[in-house]
Amino acid sequence: MEGVKSVDSAFPDETHAIRASAAPLSRESRIGQACIEALIDRRSVPPRHLQAPGPDARELNRIVAAGLAAPCHGRLPQFSVIAIPPENRGHLGDVFVAGLRESEPDPAAERIERLREKAMHAPTLLLLVCHVFPALPEIPREEQIASAGAALGAIVTAADLLGYGAMAVSGQHIRSKAIREAFRLARHDFPLAFIAIGTPSRRRNACAARRAPAEVLTTWRPDMTGSF
Ligand SMILES: Cc1cc2nc3c(=O)[nH]c(=O)nc-3n(C[C@H](O)[C@H](O)[C@H](O)COP(=O)(O)O)c2cc1C
Repeated sequence: MEGVKSVDSAFPDETHAIRASAAPLSRESRIGQACIEALIDRRSVPPRHLQAPGPDARELNRIVAAGLAAPCHGRLPQFSVIAIPPENRGHLGDVFVAGLRESEPDPAAERIERLREKAMHAPTLLLLVCHVFPALPEIPREEQIASAGAALGAIVTAADLLGYGAMAVSGQHIRSKAIREAFRLARHDFPLAFIAIGTPSRRRNACAARRAPAEVLTTWRPDMTGSF
């Protein structure tokens, strides 16, 4: 597991035993507990605070593999991940500006400048494209999009588990014609989000409060009143 900063390296024997035997994790398993805590502790890091190094090719492969393990009804090829390497970020900036001009033909110079800067943020930038298959009544569109969303969550979390910072950002113009054309999106494709990954340049902010489990976990009863 060289170079991998995951819970694997913290619990090598346990991880190996679990993978070798395919046995389920016991409820007391240290690795299971560590994984849960890592999931709960995950925080996004804004792209402007992500610097080199980003994940290497092997790590990126594992991150995408985590996305591919997301629940997916029918195991459809629900998404693609397009990496935008540093040498193409200038061109991505041009695409962002073209997207802005679709709604604002004459934007202020500083807005253009800011968009071009955004295209340069984070050493690793991915575009997650969702492929919707409209002719599948048994797997409706919302389930298909949910699968791509689950993949997005797994990708961001896997990057976090490897010790990187990551954040999903759609930005203002992701649904522009300019983006669709630049990434050669087919009719039923849509870009879900960019995913920025890199080494956090500063400590993570104290997190914005998340809802407590008790706020979202309720029990259904046939005679209940109100809504969830
Ligand atoms: C599809 C998608 C698109 C998003 N786009 C943006 C965005 O454009 N700008 C932004 O500030 N946050 C965006 N977010 C939210 C952040 O990625 C992040 O989840 C949020 O700031 C909460 O922070 P946390 O992940 O640390 O809980 C997006 C999330 C998703 C799932």
